[in-house]
Amino acid sequence: MSADRDSLLAAARAAMARAYAPYSRFHVGAALAFADGSIVTGANVENASYGLSLCAETVAVAKAMAEGRRGGLVALAIVGGPEGAPHAAVTPCGRCRQVLNELAGTGGTDPLVWCGGEGAMPDLRLSQLLPHAFGPADLRDNGGAEAR
Ligand code: THU
Repeated sequence: MSADRDSLLAAARAAMARAYAPYSRFHVGAALAFADGSIVTGANVENASYGLSLCAETVAVAKAMAEGRRGGLVALAIVGGPEGAPHAAVTPCGRCRQVLNELAGTGGTDPLVWCGGEGAMPDLRLSQLLPHAFGPADLRDNGGAEAR
């Protein structure tokens, strides 16, 4: 394991401080840990056209993949909550689960998902949050393009 829970949650908290969330005032930070020990973070980035807002997890995945990272996603941490208020555990939204599944699928890993904040959250695997996921393999099985 390249990252421990506490240090990955600390990275997510640091990323949360850079959230751009003037509309919801709900700040989220995410940190992805890779098998080589590297960490890629993201924060939510909102937009005046509300529906265009990006979640912290999606920003982190886009950053990682645009840097050329493929495979090796071993864990991720998420922290978030209303600005200046106690934070309950935040789990990734449905869209982010799918986006995370794509990156995890490039290496065949099933990353741990650590949700920080008040209130007990068990350690979860992405496959528990997104069971029976639709992914790259489904397209291959149907003669579609192979992911690279
Ligand atoms: N948000 C995230 O960044 N990640 C999640 O998993 C849940 C929601 C963001 C989106 C929006 O900017 C704000 O939190 C309120 O929904």
